[in-house]
Amino acid sequence: MSLNIETIKNLAPARRASIAPFIAMDVKREATLKEQAGERIVHMEVGEPCAPPPRLVREAAMAALAGGPIGYTDALGLLSLRQRIARHYAENFGIDVDPQRVAITTGSSGAFIMAFLTLFDAGARVAIPNPGYPAYRNIFAALGVETVDVPVNSENGFAMTAAALAKAHAAQRLDGVLAMSPANPTGAMLSDQQLRDIAVFCETEGVKFISDEIYHGLTFSRPAQTALAFSDQAIVVNSFSKYYCMTGWRIGWLVAPPELIRPIERLQQSLAISAPTLSQIAAEAAFEAKEELEAVKEGYRRNRDILLNGLPELGLGDLAPADGAFYLYADISRFTGDSTQFCHDLLHRAGVAATPGVDFDPKLGHLSLRLSYAGAEADMIEALKRLKGFLAAR
Ligand SMILES: Cc1ncc(COP(=O)(O)O)c(C=O)c1O
Repeated sequence: MSLNIETIKNLAPARRASIAPFIAMDVKREATLKEQAGERIVHMEVGEPCAPPPRLVREAAMAALAGGPIGYTDALGLLSLRQRIARHYAENFGIDVDPQRVAITTGSSGAFIMAFLTLFDAGARVAIPNPGYPAYRNIFAALGVETVDVPVNSENGFAMTAAALAKAHAAQRLDGVLAMSPANPTGAMLSDQQLRDIAVFCETEGVKFISDEIYHGLTFSRPAQTALAFSDQAIVVNSFSKYYCMTGWRIGWLVAPPELIRPIERLQQSLAISAPTLSQIAAEAAFEAKEELEAVKEGYRRNRDILLNGLPELGLGDLAPADGAFYLYADISRFTGDSTQFCHDLLHRAGVAATPGVDFDPKLGHLSLRLSYAGAEADMIEALKRLKGFLAAR
């Protein structure tokens, strides 16, 4: 059958599918193609731990595989995992969380979809940090939710403050606020007071508050606080992807106020049925692997030191704080006004995959670049060498 023009028109995607790409993932695809063609690429584009998941996690998964069928779980997840996550808040923050308030999701990405659909109708206005994690903006765009950029930069210590939110809210009412600490791409952390102020602002103004805590555990000077310490109205999103080295297992969680749990359950029933069962079983063991995970984190600290020492010598010393997570966000304005072209050339001429700032900041990201240092130590040294050659040749 030949395609006629009517058929082609019918294949046009819906407007909600016309969202921006997640550029880091596009770079990853391009880098993978080069690897398949035999090139050696240094991967710094995606925030992906190079360490395998902890031994206990792999053993739990293997035992489950040997043990028989891996069926669906309840939509909200395995009760034992929900209880273990609740215990995590008791042990690490001294906070009593009812396991019934915990929902297990397909990564924090799945948690965002559940949280955003539960909280916001099309037309709602939600404040997000800029620069920030690209998927917030993209998922909201698909859902017809308007994002309100709150700039985070050297002038405000890279922090989204309650004062800035109050100003935006006074100009036009906000329906929601999405904060993250430690942050992607900057690595900056909110102080406990700043997080408390945001929580109080949201509660006082009846604004819904989502706290993305996916980089908890990956901090280099002080531990990160949870929004649950300041508000039982906050929706907290977290994941096993980063600290727990389980990106590909697609497993995360959210903690929500009791009245939102049944709506979240209904959405999960129909959108996912349940999060992957094997990953749920394995993830429960991750909480017992602290020693192994702390050793991985020490590797990130070494990587961070290598880059913090080496990048300034290359003229890439203007960096966001890097208090936590595993990213460096560098000003590249002395080299280019086009971070997309810069990253393209860096990949194709020097074999270093990095993400242009435009992924995180549509306004000023053409002047920045993000490097992930979650890879191997040898790769950090190799990246510096390749960057040096690349910049010298420009
Ligand atoms: C801030 C932030 N939130 C959420 C995610 C999504 O992670 P996942 O879906 O693997 O849990 C990422 C991934 O890089 C991230 O940087």
